This record gives sequence, C-alpha cells and structure tokens, in this order.
Amino acid sequence: MGVIGSGTMGFGIGFYFAIHGYNTVIFDVSEDHLNLAKEKFNTYYDLFEKAQFPLQLSKQNAFKLIEWTTTLDSFKETDLIIESVIEQIEVKQNVFAKLDTIVKSDAILASNTSSLKLSEITENVSRMKNRVILTHFFNPAQIVPLVELLQLPNTDHGVLEKVHALFESIGKTPIRVYKEVAGLVANRIQVALAREAISLLEDGVVTKEDLEKTIFDGPGFRYATSGLLKIMDFGGLDIWDKVLGNLQGEIESSIRTFPVIKDLVNEQAYGVKTGKGFFEYPGKGFDELVLQRDEELLKHLLTTHY
Ligand SMILES: NC(=O)c1ccc[n+]([C@@H]2O[C@H](COP(=O)([O-])OP(=O)(O)OC[C@H]3O[C@@H](n4cnc5c(N)ncnc54)[C@H](O)[C@@H]3O)[C@@H](O)[C@H]2O)c1
Repeated sequence: MGVIGSGTMGFGIGFYFAIHGYNTVIFDVSEDHLNLAKEKFNTYYDLFEKAQFPLQLSKQNAFKLIEWTTTLDSFKETDLIIESVIEQIEVKQNVFAKLDTIVKSDAILASNTSSLKLSEITENVSRMKNRVILTHFFNPAQIVPLVELLQLPNTDHGVLEKVHALFESIGKTPIRVYKEVAGLVANRIQVALAREAISLLEDGVVTKEDLEKTIFDGPGFRYATSGLLKIMDFGGLDIWDKVLGNLQGEIESSIRTFPVIKDLVNEQAYGVKTGKGFFEYPGKGFDELVLQRDEELLKHLLTTHY
C-alpha cells in the first residue's frame, strides 16, 4: 500500500493498513512531517490496544511494515496508492502527474479529496488514466468505517471492485458513488443537516446546548443503530410522505453565510484547535482532546462492528 501525505488523513490510512498486516509506504515532503506521524503511530497503537481492538501484530511488527519516505520513487512496487495531501488542486495534480511516470502499470491510483473533482485532479495523468479512483475516508480514518468510492467513466472494469473487496476485508465499510457530484454522499448530507441546525440556532429557536442534546439524543441516538431509510420504514412512509410535504417549505433553503459562524471565525474562535468555538475547551490542548474523542469513537466502533 502507499499513502502520499502523512497528515491527519494520510497517517490514519497508513496506520490502518499497517496494523492489518500490509506493507505500507508513507510519503511526506520532509522528515519532520514523517517524525510527527511516527509519534502518532505509537500513540494510536497504544490507544487501539487499550480499547482492545483486535490487533493481529505487535507494535514493533506493525511499525516495521511501514517505509517512511520523502522520495516518490518508493512507490514503484506499490499496488494501491492513496493521495492524501493538502486540498490544493495544483499540488494534487502535480503528485498524480509524477506518480503516472513512476508506478507499475497494474497499480491503482486513488485520491482522498473531500471537495475537488477527481477528473480535474487527474487531468494530467496519461499512462495510468484507466486506473484512477477516489477513496474518500472519514476523519479519523483509522477508526470511522465509511469509505466512499468513485470511479471515472474510463476507469478499468474491476479496479473499483478490487479496492471495495480489499477495504471490506479489513473491516472498512466501502460504498459506491455512481456520479461525480461535489461532496459525494455523506458530506452533502452533513451540510444539509448543518444548514438547518445553524439556521435554527441563529433564529433563536433553540440554545446551542439544547441543539447539541437534540442531535445527540434524538436523530443521532437512532442513527447509532440504523441508517435513515430504515428509520423511515419504521416510522411509516405514509407519515414521512406527509412530514416531508409539510416541512420542506419551512426549513432553511437559502445559500448564504451564517453570521453566527462568521463572527466566531472573525474572532479566531475556530473550535477545538484554538480552545474556543461554539463552546470553550479550557485546560486541554488540541491533541489531548482529539485523543479523548478518538477513544470514544473506538469504543463505539468496537460495540457496533466487532
Ligand atoms: N481532515 C479531514 O477531515 C478530511 C476528511 C476526508 C478527506 N480529507 C482530505 O484528505 C486530504 C488530506 O487532508 P488532511 O486533513 O490529512 O490534511 P493535513 O494538512 O493534515 O495533511 C496534508 C499533508 O500533505 C502534505 N503535503 C503538502 N504538500 C505536499 C506535497 N506536495 N506532496 C506530498 N505531501 C504534501 C503535508 O506535509 C501534510 O502532511 C485532503 O485532500 C482533504 O480534503 C480530509
């Protein structure tokens, strides 16, 4: 396996492959970046072990499977390479153009982009143009099961299926996205939810504390056991038909910025990373809070999937 970029997502993807026994090459632009990812390997292996995640390899043996590199030539022998560099089209295009000349002809090239078009990212790819797909992981990639997969019209038959089967075999939940739409499926749904939630908050319909409780102990509580369509089946489609008809005209549908968010951004209250967003996070640093969140997510993963 290969991962380009050892940041938040690239680290998570590489870590997950390695603990599942795959030789994994992880690239970044400097040794400093790679050293940070190596430290994270240690931290997350311990976290997985403490949570009793079914680990097949010792920490040393999993770590040994990773080649940390600052040279793209290391990807000559890799079967699947997932690009997970910063979300900038030119940077990604450049990475793909270089990989196009380096990788073996039966390799698969994937991008983990959240918002850019795969067809544009790979427009300079020629030799490997039939072996390109999108694999969109969710943060933290080493824990959240979902991976959205998309192929292009000229992607060779079987490429996406091979990756789908691989991901299933290591406990991920791959889904197929059949059209190249911005935001794919999950992020479009998240944005629709956020638009309505923030609009209710701005209109003073609910406090931020109660909005959290609403999602956590209402829809979110049910989503922990089933998807939306089964919830609708249980509720009755006759009822949902009426509810959709009655409420669609009432909910937020404008395309606009939300002052409640813009104001926080303007005062540099970006959320956990600055210690203040909608809520305050005193006393603990970003890394500590992320680890705490990931411990909770791991517990949830093990309860629901193992
Ligand atoms: N963070 C998320 O929640 C999330 C979720 C899904 C997908 N994504 C996507 O994953 C990709 C990576 O996001 P991230 O959050 O890991 O970002 P990040 O900033 O944590 O990591 C990006 C990494 O890319 C490296 N990099 C920069 N320029 C490079 C180059 N020219 N060649 C190779 N590596 C280079 C950086 O050194 C850094 O380690 C983006 O496309 C993003 O949209 C992010």
